Amino acid sequence: MKILIVLGSTRKSLPPKPPRLGARVAEALRAHLEADYPDGDIELIDPLDYDFGQVFKPHFAYAANHVPQALDALADKIRAADAYVMVSPEYNHSLSPALAHLLNHFGSSLYAYKPSLIVTYSAGQWGGVRAAVGMRTFLSELGCLPVSAMIHVPHAAEVLDEDGRYRKEDGAERWETYLQRGTTQLRWWADAAGGHRQNVDPHELVGDFTRDPQQRNAPE
Ligand SMILES: Cc1cc2nc3c(=O)[nH]c(=O)nc-3n(C[C@H](O)[C@H](O)[C@H](O)COP(=O)(O)O)c2cc1C
Repeated sequence: MKILIVLGSTRKSLPPKPPRLGARVAEALRAHLEADYPDGDIELIDPLDYDFGQVFKPHFAYAANHVPQALDALADKIRAADAYVMVSPEYNHSLSPALAHLLNHFGSSLYAYKPSLIVTYSAGQWGGVRAAVGMRTFLSELGCLPVSAMIHVPHAAEVLDEDGRYRKEDGAERWETYLQRGTTQLRWWADAAGGHRQNVDPHELVGDFTRDPQQRNAPE
């Protein structure tokens, strides 16, 4: 099973400090999944590794054979994944622009019929919960339906060090139990959906919207 962890931060600004708080949250999820699931193929996607350019041009808008190599490679990873862990801070009570921008580069058919897990965090006390509520809608539209459990990490800099390790040893077990609920749901759904995709190809059965946005319209 391939699980992609997508980090939703490209922030360089100081303040607020520390920069890219999300990197440690994503690392904590990676460490948790790798320890819990040694046979899994766990990969962290960092938007800083990709140059999306100033002009927005999604993957599906390029002519075949003209897609930038890095964008195509990322599309392949998203297509090959069985499940997604979406890690986002809260920006004005919404998911981060960095996460939305990365995900928006790819058509929903690449994400569809696979589960996702919502992980949010904050420097302050709310843990990104307001962003998380909106993420359900966003991820559902992509077709990677979020599992019911969510993970929220308030005061993330106090919970995790720079490498994503728990600062307080006595709290680590409770955090791991909390993470486990979400990741277990994710893996259960990924197993179920992956098995069923082998039996019935949903892309053939339902058909993907690939021609133009009006394919979504109700009949007149
Ligand atoms: C434009 C902007 C809007 C923000 N809005 C919120 C918010 O609504 N709720 C919140 O808890 N934090 C908010 N923050 C704080 C960020 O969530 C915080 O800086 C977080 O560490 C960002 O994640 P990062 O460090 O991984 O980039 C905002 C920060 C910026 C720059």
